[in-house]
Amino acid sequence: MAHNPSDVCEMQLNGVSEVMDLLHIDVDIDMMKGKPGKEDLLHSRNVLRKQRNWERQLAAKKSKRKEEKQRRKLNREQESAGATGSPQFTKRVMKAITKERLAEAQRTGLKLCVDLSMTDCMSDKISVCLMQEVGRLAGQLRRMYGSNKKAARPFHLFLTELQEDSRLYRECVRMNEGFLNYKIDITEESCLDLFPPEKLVYLSPDAEEALETVDADKVYVLGGLVDESIQKKLSFSRARELNICTVRLPIDEYMVKKNNTKNFHSKILAVNQVLDILLTFCDTGSWIDALQAWFPQGKGYVVTQDESSAKSAT
Ligand SMILES: C[S@@+](CC[C@H](N)C(=O)[O-])C[C@H]1O[C@@H](n2cnc3c(N)ncnc32)[C@H](O)[C@@H]1O
Repeated sequence: MAHNPSDVCEMQLNGVSEVMDLLHIDVDIDMMKGKPGKEDLLHSRNVLRKQRNWERQLAAKKSKRKEEKQRRKLNREQESAGATGSPQFTKRVMKAITKERLAEAQRTGLKLCVDLSMTDCMSDKISVCLMQEVGRLAGQLRRMYGSNKKAARPFHLFLTELQEDSRLYRECVRMNEGFLNYKIDITEESCLDLFPPEKLVYLSPDAEEALETVDADKVYVLGGLVDESIQKKLSFSRARELNICTVRLPIDEYMVKKNNTKNFHSKILAVNQVLDILLTFCDTGSWIDALQAWFPQGKGYVVTQDESSAKSAT
């Protein structure tokens, strides 16, 4: 079949181009064709390749500089730890230690549940108020987790009866960064589904008996409610319903009323404050230390300064 001269020329050019490609020589086909150069002809493949090479070298230099900087920082930290004699861990190491401590608590730690079955009772169901209370409870759960993370001997925490389709669950996920990765057991089951009733001890401000000590054989339960809950004795009634024994914090035993202008006195604490008190008690074995450190000043009580005048909790 006859070819016209321009076809023949095109075929030859293609052949040459393939050979050049095999030899890794970039030749602009249009230049071979002798077509007039356009602006973008300047960006030949060679130029682009050189540019890419240059960019790669630059990125490699940058990452080498970063690695070098990190190595120097680590050296400095190790040197200063050696100088002070006390270990100063990097953030990464601290994170790993905390993670391990919480994992250990989940294996062997004291157990504490937050019973979230009552969140619907929190407000008079005026939706704005309820949402505010749900938000406050989500914040208190975040603070609880924060305190537990920092504790020398953290609790094995459980959030029980937290339904995945509930407002509280959604608020926790929305407000509390990393909530779904918290080292906490989050479950839709109740504390009674998880533990035998004789092991459970419900903390309620309305209980008659005072908590004396924190026992490794027991599982402590807090009512997942916020202070605004106007309904009294909610956690107490709930514990009764479940046939679980109740105890209150030993406030009467170690604290006295303090005069204040509003004549306000309350023994009802937020769940995170109760956990702070329990953590300090577990650490020090002293209710005085724990209440002194964490009982909020605005509640109108002070720790009796004289230890001997504190009423025995037994
Ligand atoms: C803000 S309080 C809720 C008060 C609510 N009126 C009730 O009936 O429990 C949240 C939870 O913290 C615990 N709590 C607060 N103050 C306490 C106290 N003085 N003694 C024992 N537990 C307390 C209880 O488990 C309580 O359910």
